[in-house]
Amino acid sequence: MTNGGNRHNEPASFWTQANALLRKNLTFQKRNVKTNVRLILFPFVLCILLLLLQNLLNKQFDKAKNKCGCICTKTQGEQCLEKKCGVQYSDFDQVGACPITNPPEWPPFLQTPDPQYRAVRTDFLPFSDFPNPLCRNNGSCPITMLFTGTNQSLGEVLSGNMIPSTFGINNTDVMDSLATNVLGSASKTENTNFLEPAFFSDLPIYYLQSQCGKNSTFSIPIQISTTSRQQELRCAQALRLWRNSSSEVNNELYKGYRKGNTARKINEIVAGYDFLNSNENIFNVSIWYNATYKNDTGFDPIALARDPKCEFGHKIEDTVSSSAAQAHRVGHL
Ligand SMILES: *[C@@H]1O[C@H](CO)[C@@H](O)[C@H](O)[C@H]1NC(C)=O
Ligand SMILES: *[C@@H]1O[C@H](CO)[C@@H](O)[C@H](O)[C@H]1NC(C)=O
Ligand SMILES: *[C@@H]1O[C@H](CO)[C@@H](O)[C@H](O)[C@H]1NC(C)=O
Ligand SMILES: *[C@@H]1O[C@H](CO)[C@@H](O)[C@H](O)[C@H]1NC(C)=O
Ligand SMILES: *[C@@H]1O[C@H](CO)[C@@H](O)[C@H](O)[C@H]1NC(C)=O
Ligand SMILES: *[C@@H]1O[C@H](CO)[C@@H](O)[C@H](O)[C@H]1NC(C)=O
Ligand SMILES: *[C@@H]1O[C@H](CO)[C@@H](O)[C@H](O)[C@H]1NC(C)=O
Ligand SMILES: *[C@@H]1O[C@H](CO)[C@@H](O)[C@H](O)[C@H]1NC(C)=O
Repeated sequence: MTNGGNRHNEPASFWTQANALLRKNLTFQKRNVKTNVRLILFPFVLCILLLLLQNLLNKQFDKAKNKCGCICTKTQGEQCLEKKCGVQYSDFDQVGACPITNPPEWPPFLQTPDPQYRAVRTDFLPFSDFPNPLCRNNGSCPITMLFTGTNQSLGEVLSGNMIPSTFGINNTDVMDSLATNVLGSASKTENTNFLEPAFFSDLPIYYLQSQCGKNSTFSIPIQISTTSRQQELRCAQALRLWRNSSSEVNNELYKGYRKGNTARKINEIVAGYDFLNSNENIFNVSIWYNATYKNDTGFDPIALARDPKCEFGHKIEDTVSSSAAQAHRVGHL
């Protein structure tokens, strides 16, 4: 052995060691050739799978039923040169994918309880000015609202102006004229209001009046986009009750809740209004309303709630003309 070859007791040179290690590794890898092929192919297989998935999804989303409906407005032989798409060209499956350029406008609604749950006189409420429980038999119970504030005579004027005594509708512009009245619905709110559930729930729409006449239920044709349907309108008498303090209002609202009384009865009051220190110059009001349908539990997505401020805002502001409107909510139930 010459030239720096391995003598018996000498350590092997770096190159010999590297060489040996390489051969050993190569042999080892040769034995595990399947594992190596799998290792190398894994990313490719993954990419191919993703590609296939992408193609599949693209194809699904490209299907006519997942796209807004269109018609051809200009053709050249077989080819379509110009398309027009929209709700009016779509079927039921396609409508959801259409852009909404002019969302419909809806009149505001109060969240009113079903007639059999509206507040009536009971043992667990200390006041006797609630309606007679017999009204539950024929669904004629009024909708009760509570009012309080520092100046009762002003409060009576303000609350009196909130409830109309006549109902008017203009047949040429039904939606707009509905909004000039005070409406209520027992329908559940949703996460969006693109289609107002009050018009799509088969429940009657209530119009609030200080007193209901004899023939107070009727049907009107309502035009929504391109379709027309009949909608039942029913009168609901609104009962305004004055309380001397906000704690009385709070107490009664709470007792109307099924778990707020020992009889486990539902005795719903639509809303409570505290006019606080409002006078000719200041308009300061606090509103209680039922936010159950908002689903603000921390688990569900927060839905919409019908806020009685929207319904009456303009009516109260018409009364207190030069006022700094400062409506705020104190709490929900
Ligand atoms: C409903 O019942 C009450 C009490 O019995 C009665 O005064 C009222 O006239 C009835 N209303 C209708 C619409 O039948
Ligand atoms: C209560 O309001 C009425 C009507 O706005 C007003 O005439 C009266 O002075 C007010 N009373 C008090 C104590 O502020
Ligand atoms: C009804 O509405 C139309 C269009 O907004 C208007 O021209 C007409 O004067 C209204 N009719 C009444 C009675 O208000
Ligand atoms: C609110 O929650 C209830 C019960 O969890 C559920 O049935 C309802 O669909 C929810 N509403 C919305 C608009 O998500
Ligand atoms: C109530 O309305 C119906 C149908 O619109 C009518 O036939 C009936 O005469 C009305 N009744 C009263 C008391 O106005
Ligand atoms: C409010 O207070 C007045 C005067 O103290 C009293 O006459 C009236 O009965 C009270 N009203 C209610 C609903 O408690
Ligand atoms: C609020 O509304 C829900 C749903 O209608 C009802 O179950 C509940 O009793 C109401 N709460 C009160 C305090 O009226
Ligand atoms: C409105 O009422 C609240 C609660 O009583 C009070 O804290 C606030 O100062 C009032 N605002 C005005 C402008 O008077």
